[in-house]
Amino acid sequence: MCGIVGYLGKNEKKEILLDGLQELEYRGYDSAGIAVIEGKNLNQFKAIGKLENLREKTKNYQTKGFGISIGHTRWATHGKPTELNAHPHLGDYSYVVHNGIIENYQALKAELQAEGVKFLSQTDTETIVHLFEKENKTSKSVFQAFKNTIERLDGAYATLLITQADTDTIYFAKHGSPMLVGFNGDDVYFASSDTPIIGKATEVYYLEDGEYGYAKEGVFKLFDANGEKTFKKQALTADKVLAQKDGYRFFMEKEIYEQSRVISETMMGRVLDDTIALDELGSDFFEGINSVKICACGTSYHSALTAAYLLERLAKVRCDIEIASEFRYKDPLLTPDTLFITISQSGETADTLEALKMAKRAGLKSLSICNVDNSSIVRESDAAILTRAGIEKGVASTKAFATQTMVLWILALYIGQEKKTISKDVLKTEIDAMLHTPKALVVTDTLHEKLHRLSKRYLHGHGFFFIGRDIFFPLALEGALKLKEISYMHAEGYPAGEMKHGPIALADSELFTIALMPKSMHYDKMKSNVEELSARDATICAISPLPFELADDFIQTKYDSHPMLEFFEMMVVTQLLALEISVRLGNDVDMPRNLAKSVTVE
Ligand code: AGP
Repeated sequence: MCGIVGYLGKNEKKEILLDGLQELEYRGYDSAGIAVIEGKNLNQFKAIGKLENLREKTKNYQTKGFGISIGHTRWATHGKPTELNAHPHLGDYSYVVHNGIIENYQALKAELQAEGVKFLSQTDTETIVHLFEKENKTSKSVFQAFKNTIERLDGAYATLLITQADTDTIYFAKHGSPMLVGFNGDDVYFASSDTPIIGKATEVYYLEDGEYGYAKEGVFKLFDANGEKTFKKQALTADKVLAQKDGYRFFMEKEIYEQSRVISETMMGRVLDDTIALDELGSDFFEGINSVKICACGTSYHSALTAAYLLERLAKVRCDIEIASEFRYKDPLLTPDTLFITISQSGETADTLEALKMAKRAGLKSLSICNVDNSSIVRESDAAILTRAGIEKGVASTKAFATQTMVLWILALYIGQEKKTISKDVLKTEIDAMLHTPKALVVTDTLHEKLHRLSKRYLHGHGFFFIGRDIFFPLALEGALKLKEISYMHAEGYPAGEMKHGPIALADSELFTIALMPKSMHYDKMKSNVEELSARDATICAISPLPFELADDFIQTKYDSHPMLEFFEMMVVTQLLALEISVRLGNDVDMPRNLAKSVTVE
């Protein structure tokens, strides 16, 4: 996720901006920049890579006196990580920084280009500053021009704009992406979260969606659709690490709660009312492709397994799945009509990267689904689709898995749409379900409290089975991996239909079975599989929209209209169950023993 900082006042601005951006590093980024206006002086600096590159560039630059200033760390969603694509973006006399996705940027860009506006970058953000300068030619005030600009934006944005047309004012707007305002006397601060302004501002106001306005020295005006509004400042927390966790106990917990929001960003500009758009892929990308091979490790392997069901069912394209560490040494049969997809949160997993290089040497077209732009796997691939999960700090992957699975669902529909192997009705049904996914990912206090209480019963025993059918089998594997990783107890994911082929020998009261029992898919078959286990005194925790009287514990889910909605809702349940068990065992939830966030060695 991008990071935004802004400052208006008399203090030295460069350090305020750079220190503020440093505090946002945890959000992940691949380039950064600042812009400062002090009277007639307009200065701007940008650098790709880490912030020290920007510090190096600005080491001889000092600000003085009153001024307005903005800064940004960019997590690429549109366009490669380059200086040209880094923020702030410049018009003729104005600068803008932005976090979010402008869904209608292509139409706006075309309109502006038709009027002779030259774009330097590939980003959606650049449309904001050019649109503002267009509006400023005819508006009765700079503020009116800014207001007109914001009203034309669709999508998510947290944006700051400074302009030589008004050198003592910072303009701001917030919709769908976070931004707050800090105050200390006449000084005004802006930031994506509170860590950059801790120790600088004394009071804070967290902007709401649809709010916009401007700040001058000693003047702060806030508006929404109903016009100017009052607001209440609150005291600012002093604990930075707590602030980075946004008040959650662990990064993993925060990232589970973030899933509902980030999945919306994953879909933005891709899932439209009745079609799927993937600008990242050329129109002929699937020409000559008759099958797909997906290669990954760990959690990413589980999203790959899920994709196999979706690609064959929805896109009617043959799909097989490989564990990268196995694929590398198996002398695989590879044919050029196979699209080789790699999935990786980090984009640096050694086995997955080497598997990709093998496939490329064999002449296969490659596509990566990744969370980190400019990573090794992304750079090695012919094309990449970014998951837009934002940085994931918890070693046990959660929102990366959710966004990978969403991208793969989108890809299955896209291939079906391009190859005309999916009907318009089925496509519409799938898209409708997709658009409900953010709701299915919302963590309610009731659910979290229930899982916290339930977890005390699962701190011992000789192991766990997570069982499911169809797409709920890879979800069972993922639930078992989450639990293993952070509780250090043994857990296995299994196809529910396999119980009688051996595993049921383990069934007794100390074997805990987490049964994924969706209403919309194979419920009766799941019921009989679970009954087999229950009859042998296995302890059953059923996750289902339908009450199941044989369960020792029961988590009732509610999104039962579509298998993928049930998938995502049950995914949250298994993630929280693992987290709460780990907390009770006193383990390090974010940094479990023996594990690394990215396995960059064999
Ligand atoms: C997931 O919780 C684990 N941290 C691990 O299995 C991870 O998914 C695997 O190492 C692959 O990492 P990648 O997605 O960055 O390639």
